[in-house]
Amino acid sequence: MPIHGIILQKRFRAILLCFFFVVAWYLYKYQTYNYIIEKLSYFSPNHSQDRKANQAVFEELELYLRMSSRFLDIYDNVLLPSLRYFWPGNVSIVVVLDQESAQDQELSKTLSKRYPYPRVEFQNPIDPSIYHWRGHERMQRDFFYPEDKIKKKYVGFIDTDTVFVTRVIPELLFEEGKPVIIGNYGKYDTPLFAKEESLGTGKMLKSKEIARGMAYFPVIMKLSHIVELRKYVEKLHNRPFDEIFKISSNGPFSQFSVMCQYAWNFHRDEYKFYFHLRSYNNGTWHGEDNPPGREPYQFYQTNVTEEQRMPKPRSSIHLRYHDNWKNPDTLRNVIKTGICFSGGFDLCPNQCKHLNRSGLQRELYYFEYNDWSWDKRCLDEQRKHYALVAEQSNDVALQALKAGCDEVGRLSFKP
Ligand SMILES: *[C@@H]1O[C@H](CO)[C@@H](O)[C@H](O)[C@H]1NC(C)=O
Ligand SMILES: *[C@@H]1O[C@H](CO)[C@@H](O)[C@H](O)[C@H]1NC(C)=O
Ligand SMILES: *[C@@H]1O[C@H](CO)[C@@H](O)[C@H](O)[C@H]1NC(C)=O
Ligand SMILES: *[C@@H]1O[C@H](CO)[C@@H](O)[C@H](O)[C@H]1NC(C)=O
Ligand SMILES: *[C@@H]1O[C@H](CO)[C@@H](O)[C@H](O)[C@H]1NC(C)=O
Repeated sequence: MPIHGIILQKRFRAILLCFFFVVAWYLYKYQTYNYIIEKLSYFSPNHSQDRKANQAVFEELELYLRMSSRFLDIYDNVLLPSLRYFWPGNVSIVVVLDQESAQDQELSKTLSKRYPYPRVEFQNPIDPSIYHWRGHERMQRDFFYPEDKIKKKYVGFIDTDTVFVTRVIPELLFEEGKPVIIGNYGKYDTPLFAKEESLGTGKMLKSKEIARGMAYFPVIMKLSHIVELRKYVEKLHNRPFDEIFKISSNGPFSQFSVMCQYAWNFHRDEYKFYFHLRSYNNGTWHGEDNPPGREPYQFYQTNVTEEQRMPKPRSSIHLRYHDNWKNPDTLRNVIKTGICFSGGFDLCPNQCKHLNRSGLQRELYYFEYNDWSWDKRCLDEQRKHYALVAEQSNDVALQALKAGCDEVGRLSFKP
């Protein structure tokens, strides 16, 4: 080879190498590696495997709503419309009412005959001192005993003021066939009682709380894990569960924090955990004002993985802990926005034209006054979610959304 050719070849290699580095640097700078890996993994066998796994567990899920006739207005005008527009297919749901209430007995006669055709079950009042004669604590206590009410493998706890804000697909609630858990972590939670709630978790489990579990709906647990949890707690305290409940819940307390904590301690590989770092200082929190019973900041730094810090879109909000919730326009707007993003931009152009199609849907990342949108990755995760929604869309889903477009402006409830 002439000397001239070798030089050219060397130069060519050098240029190629430079080019390669520039491209690599550029991709690094704009943080596109994860994006590309994500896109490539889309074609891997795992994608369809995951879909099948998530679909299969989704069918093993039954929603559990602890209600009484006093909440019928919220049930009818807040929960049901959002289920109707966003939940795929028939809803597997059990509504649990107060056995001793004549109104609840009366209500049961009609409730199961109309959408979403729930199974209706009754809960006896047991000894009311266990829940300090308070309805809310009674509900919390009953959530620890779902096994005789639920007929499937997984229970999904919701509330009458749960509002779904996007088309529900299995991937939103399950990943790799495992239930998603989203915990709030960081500076004192709002509302204020939440800052002390970690102490209630500690009383029951005798350990520091990893995160606040009342941070998403539905809270999905394997039924057998809740039974196991009660046995564990009884052994830990050497007394019946209800007695421990009575002591632990007399003060700020969250049954969901306890359940999530138990899952973390004993079944971490069977759930997909996400930690939502609270919005104070837009993610630049360094451990100040950590709730008293919470794992220290070091836990977040060393035990929580990068994957577990990814912003995970939520399926729903908790209406009574949302900005300006008493104004019915809030409900109308959050549902309408969800309809638009879930397929409505093309389906209901009139209702959706005021919205930015490529903007952020805040409600996917906002729960009980806690905003995740400081995380720049939110928009990407939202787009991935809606790509999956579009893939799984069908005529029935579109009809439900269309019905939503027509009705949503008339939704009303008594705050
Ligand atoms: C594919 O899925 C299996 C089982 O869910 C998992 O063990 C494996 O790590 C996954 N592979 C990739 C490349 O994600
Ligand atoms: C919903 O239930 C009805 C009546 O049980 C049944 O005919 C229908 O096929 C179900 N739809 C879906 C999507 O499962
Ligand atoms: C967080 O970011 C938002 C939007 O960029 C900004 O309006 C807000 O002031 C920031 N908050 C803090 C505490 O830095
Ligand atoms: C955090 O990680 C350390 C080291 O692996 C471990 O000893 C500790 O139990 C972990 N804490 C929690 C709450 O998981
Ligand atoms: C819509 O949202 C995107 C993403 O946040 C933003 O870049 C764009 O400027 C917005 N468009 C309008 C018209 O506000």
